[in-house]
Amino acid sequence: MNTVDQLRKCGIVPVVVINKVEEAVPLAKALLAGGINCAEITFRTEAAADAIAAMAKEVPDMIVGAGTVLTVEQAELAVKNGATFLVSPGIDEDVIKAAERLGVAMLPGAVTPTEMIQGMKLGIKLFKFFPAGNYGGIKTIKSLAAPFTAFEFCPTGGVSLENLADYLSFKKIAFVGGSWMCPANLISEGKWDEIEELTRQAVTRFRELRPAN
Ligand code: 3PG
Repeated sequence: MNTVDQLRKCGIVPVVVINKVEEAVPLAKALLAGGINCAEITFRTEAAADAIAAMAKEVPDMIVGAGTVLTVEQAELAVKNGATFLVSPGIDEDVIKAAERLGVAMLPGAVTPTEMIQGMKLGIKLFKFFPAGNYGGIKTIKSLAAPFTAFEFCPTGGVSLENLADYLSFKKIAFVGGSWMCPANLISEGKWDEIEELTRQAVTRFRELRPAN
């Protein structure tokens, strides 16, 4: 199974901000214990690259990706450290080509038809839709999916347990991303049990909504 299909099967990609590298492994274990076997570690902190390396090496059951990838250098660093998928908030030709060259899955962000056509020209068919809540959520995604029949979407930004059903009831949603099961305060306070429980709730809801996965 390729990486995108593995993420599709998991259904929910935790968007993670790690401030200290030592948070990476216990976080991965909490997510796994709750039933999620993937994580997007965002390049929003100094610790991101080392956190990717620690998680990929020490928790081999996790599918580890890098998020907020804005440059080719970050793409290369992420893959060198073990990331198998890259997520970017927007479309950048150089980053998309780097992902192709590095042999990893790429999920670039797009919220307008023009951006989607740009992505399409670069071979993209699965787009991050971010920040989903601010750009009209599932209503906008459904409108975009009408002309772009071959595209799938991963909404992130404002996705929660409460609105998961709105997104996952639409079949063009490949999977969703979000931080609600691993918020920054629970990570910094080391509340791994609470993260595990929030993850379990998310997985339970996902299985109700997509039992075939
Ligand atoms: C992202 O980068 O995808 C978002 O920051 C995640 O958004 P959330 O915190 O609203 O889930």
